[in-house]
Amino acid sequence: MNKLLSSRSSSIRSMPENYIFPVDSRPGEETIPFCDALPVINLLSCDRDNAVQQVLEACQEFGIFQLINHGVDEDLVSDTMRVVKEFFNMPEKDKEEYYSEDPNKKCRLFTGGYDYKNENTHLWRDTLRHPCIPLDECVPLWPGNPTRYRDVVRKYALEMGKLSSKILELLSEGLGLGSGYFGEDLAGVQNFSAHHYPPCPDPSLALGFPTHCDVNLISFILQDETYGLQVFRNEKWMGVRPIPNAFLVIVGLQAKIISNGKLASPPHRAITNSSQQRTSIISPIFPKPDSIIEPAKALINDSNQPIYRAFEYNEFFRTYYEKKDFSEGALEDFKVKSVHLTL
Ligand code: OGA
Ligand code: NI
Repeated sequence: MNKLLSSRSSSIRSMPENYIFPVDSRPGEETIPFCDALPVINLLSCDRDNAVQQVLEACQEFGIFQLINHGVDEDLVSDTMRVVKEFFNMPEKDKEEYYSEDPNKKCRLFTGGYDYKNENTHLWRDTLRHPCIPLDECVPLWPGNPTRYRDVVRKYALEMGKLSSKILELLSEGLGLGSGYFGEDLAGVQNFSAHHYPPCPDPSLALGFPTHCDVNLISFILQDETYGLQVFRNEKWMGVRPIPNAFLVIVGLQAKIISNGKLASPPHRAITNSSQQRTSIISPIFPKPDSIIEPAKALINDSNQPIYRAFEYNEFFRTYYEKKDFSEGALEDFKVKSVHLTL
């Protein structure tokens, strides 16, 4: 097969031409400082009202925060990271059966991701992606190798389902929408995406994940100890410091729309590393394809007119990938057209 980057990267000594990003979107040589202002929310140290406040403020001000003492068992968290790394480090022949270039295949291992805008630039990563709901139907689709994979990831997916419901409840309360606004329709799809970023000969020229805002509602990211995630804030790139066992929570574009622009959905990207491999595990939560997304009615009044129109989520998802505009611009087609009054 020899298509996966993880199978080839150890023999690649210099940057292959088709992995080099255009000058204006590559990371370059600049040293990017860590964003020390990024909120770290300790769920054990605060009461519920306080948690509601902290989650709301973090989602408004940053759209990204770290969650510690989140209640997910640490052994399960490290075991999940271990089994995912074992998966990517398996010999080529053991991964072959999971490899697919068909984006509609439910469980698939692939390399790259989407093309970067109109350039055909490849991304420096391999990804394993599969659905998690309904869990009992999904588990048999997942890799049966390593043999522990299904068992460990099933437990992890269950915990991530519970944690995401808890955080969405806090966020919903904070927005003044009661605790159950993000229910079955808006948060009914949960996936599991594991990204593997092999060492790269020249991290200044490549990207593991190009600049994007998440298309979904919200994501929970578990990263290993290797730094790689950067967030675009106040017109500058800032690094996100990995915290062992923490989850990095990122607000997606759908949450921004539902909040009528009150929440931030920050552009972010993943850079590569010349000496270490990096693994991240994303638990993204999506609306169901036919659910209607619109600014919550409770947030609309005379002085707060809706910024976005109502649409079916699958329309947004399609446009996001068709237009290949993965940042703020992805919202353009969904804005209410402003009416210009001529006096
Ligand atoms: C994503 C993402 C970053 C990472 O999957 O949307 O932003 O560190 N991943 O893998
Ligand atoms: Ni993302």
